[in-house]
Amino acid sequence: MIGLGYVGLCTAATLASRGFRVVGIDNDETKIRSVRGAKAPFHEPGLNNLLGKTIKKKILYVTDDVSMVSDTQLTQIAVGTPSLEDGSIDLTYVKKATQELGDAIRAKQTYHVAVVKSTVVPGTTNTIVRPILEQSSGKPIGEKIGLCSNPEFLREGTAVNDSLHPDVVVIGANDAKSAGTLKNLLLGFHGKNRPPMIVTRPETAELVKYASNAFLAARVSCVNTIANIAQAIPDVDVTEVAKAIGHIPRIGALFLEAGPGYGGSCFHKDLQALISFSKERGYDPTMLSAIEETNEYQSDRVAALSEKLVGSLMGKRVAVLGLAFKNGTDDVREAASIRVIDRLRKKGASVVAYDPAAMPNAKKLLVNEVEFAEDERSAIKGADCCVVMTEWDEFKRLRPKDFLREMKTPNIIDARRIFEPSKYEELNYVRMGLGSSK
Ligand code: UGA
Repeated sequence: MIGLGYVGLCTAATLASRGFRVVGIDNDETKIRSVRGAKAPFHEPGLNNLLGKTIKKKILYVTDDVSMVSDTQLTQIAVGTPSLEDGSIDLTYVKKATQELGDAIRAKQTYHVAVVKSTVVPGTTNTIVRPILEQSSGKPIGEKIGLCSNPEFLREGTAVNDSLHPDVVVIGANDAKSAGTLKNLLLGFHGKNRPPMIVTRPETAELVKYASNAFLAARVSCVNTIANIAQAIPDVDVTEVAKAIGHIPRIGALFLEAGPGYGGSCFHKDLQALISFSKERGYDPTMLSAIEETNEYQSDRVAALSEKLVGSLMGKRVAVLGLAFKNGTDDVREAASIRVIDRLRKKGASVVAYDPAAMPNAKKLLVNEVEFAEDERSAIKGADCCVVMTEWDEFKRLRPKDFLREMKTPNIIDARRIFEPSKYEELNYVRMGLGSSK
């Protein structure tokens, strides 16, 4: 496994947990040290437990030495694919990993399969990875080496379970030999509880990944649009609307939580890459741009709701509860909280923030911009307004009396809809997506 980020490390650890001997490769020394000590370099429930079981027994071995792939039969590339400034995909790490992989298997006599797990725009495996791999390994794809695309659908926060029990497996291959090798590995990994397996062309597999994230992001922007409309109708709560439409099989009940907009390292990056990819081919996918604009607007809305409750935010103290882009993770990349904090500060507010897991990462992003509190109660102490940005269980334990006791004025924007509105009638409470006659 080249690249020990979320996808690489979780996949490596789960493979190892089911007895596959895995070499995990990364060029980040701190990461390697941490994993060798059986500690994941990021917060992911259940992962340390798997590392503890597999690292000591050396079923999972981590190193920065790429040449070790020559001792393996199959190598997955799971390095990052960030955005360039114009939103298009940056393939620098994929190219580098491919080059190193090819160099490492140059002298190898037996068959080796390379698998692209990183999210890459359609055509990358065949037009970018393939020539680099063939040139660096000195072998054409076919007899001696194989090349597949195998996109990943795991979510942060539930990555271990998602890796063990994926909804679907997609293998994109040019030939039966490489597809068969990867499929056999995955059949062995999943055993009797095998997920549906789709074997297709690499370009199709690559587009499946973008299609999945585009559809998921669309659902979030769609439910947020309905939430914003619901907000304008007294006593209408988008939760009830979502619950009702969730019963319609063509819609389905999952991923209908209205809120402050999606965050995380993938939706925004992947939508931008897909928009850019599509425009380069002469088609402007306006719907994808609208998904993104709708998402961005949710942050303005949170700030506007705060202003509606508090009045001018100039000089006001606003407590932001939650910085992670969702619960169960310490990741603040593209988090809605960061956008909202920016909006609040532009309106003159001073921000005090707390998150049970993501503060170390947030501190790197929000240098000198916010005050960090020790816990949720100290965050709301003396505040003029409280904005709930992440649906952590810790926050759900707060009661109306806590806000009444601690805050200067109990103005609450429940952007994640974690509190029961009927219990908050005495406070200035706004739940995103709940219409009010006030
Ligand atoms: C997402 C996809 O769900 C994974 O399938 C995919 O593998 C991954 O991106 C990726 O491309 O690597 P992830 O970013 O970990 O996974 O998180 P999600 O659970 O999808 O949530 C994304 C954002 O949408 C979060 O900010 C979440 O709070 C928000 N969201 C999600 C909502 O606002 N409402 C919902 O109903 C669901």
